[in-house]
Amino acid sequence: MTDRKAAITAVGHYLPEERLTNRDLEKLVDTSDEWITSRTGIKERRILRDPDKATSYMAVRAAQMVLDRRGIGADEVDLIIIATVTPDMMFPATACLVQAELGAGKAWGFDVLAACSGFLFALSAAARFIESGKHEKVLVIGADKMSTIVDYTDRTTCILFGDGAGAVLLEANTDGNGILDSMERVDGNDWKGLCMLGGGSLHPASPTSVEKRLHYLYQDGQPVFKRAVVGMAGVAEAIMKRNNLTGDDVRYLVPHQANLRIIDATARRMGIPMEKVMLNIERYGNTTAATLPLCLADWEHELVPGDNLILAAFGGGFSWGSTWVKWAYDAASLNSTH
Ligand code: ACO
Repeated sequence: MTDRKAAITAVGHYLPEERLTNRDLEKLVDTSDEWITSRTGIKERRILRDPDKATSYMAVRAAQMVLDRRGIGADEVDLIIIATVTPDMMFPATACLVQAELGAGKAWGFDVLAACSGFLFALSAAARFIESGKHEKVLVIGADKMSTIVDYTDRTTCILFGDGAGAVLLEANTDGNGILDSMERVDGNDWKGLCMLGGGSLHPASPTSVEKRLHYLYQDGQPVFKRAVVGMAGVAEAIMKRNNLTGDDVRYLVPHQANLRIIDATARRMGIPMEKVMLNIERYGNTTAATLPLCLADWEHELVPGDNLILAAFGGGFSWGSTWVKWAYDAASLNSTH
């Protein structure tokens, strides 16, 4: 065991300006603000409308904010890991595009494809590179332009998703703060419940794949809902138990923002009151890999070194996980970017 932990030392984010409200969606599909609000907790989401701007555009801006706030140059970054299900293209990895745009001359990078668990899985991978001593500075970015794979004629999914990006910098810490434990799970048996069939090697793009609408996200909502509650709560409870943490020890639960009811049920099972749960689903909807860093960005100013955070996510695959983070910095100590 090593005392060298990977600590989050800065957070950044990017959200497109355009808002797609529930009222806007009422004009597109047979739905209502009341239905969406009561079933999901979402009021509006952000949309990156410009077709020439893709996921890397948002990822670069979130990453640059991290670097500016931490006061370091892109040339100091060793590794860039991007979690996304909406890469700019099948290949090269979006991490390569971000590396070039940032001017991160010595960095290597890769993408993690784990849907809504992507940021957590990327964080786990990144932590190993810091703990082992191989790297000093790793950027972990969760970014998704969900509007490019959402079918705006399907009322069961188009109400859920939004676009956005969040990023964190990981650096070594020997004070006892940082990423202290994590659990990751996948179960591919029921993958058909949440997937996008088109565009891969099984169903490459063709007139038929377009006609069958295979290039859109598909979700069988109710079974996913049940699996999400059991999965997120189960693994979050397990990580707390393994580390002798009670609800009182936890400053904040940081849950993937898929549905307010899923978050509520998860928090209940963990014995954590809602005032200790980070929530911004109302404003951004489900931004897939970006939800967790967007929460950290919104709540960063309330956190002090030593605060215990339990991050938890569930997504396509199925994939899910939980991470115990001991917060390592005071946001006031970073540069202001305003
Ligand atoms: N507006 C109005 N009515 C609707 C809408 C809508 N937007 N969508 C569905 N309905 C209707 C349905 O047609 C159905 O009508 P019926 O009873 O006449 O058949 C009724 O509302 C109930 O539908 P349900 O699917 O049972 O609604 P539910 O309460 O389950 O909510 C939802 C649906 C929001 C999708 C929910 O199931 C959910 O959040 N699922 C999990 C999401 C999740 O966690 N995903 C994982 C992460 S995402 C990722 O990895 C990319």
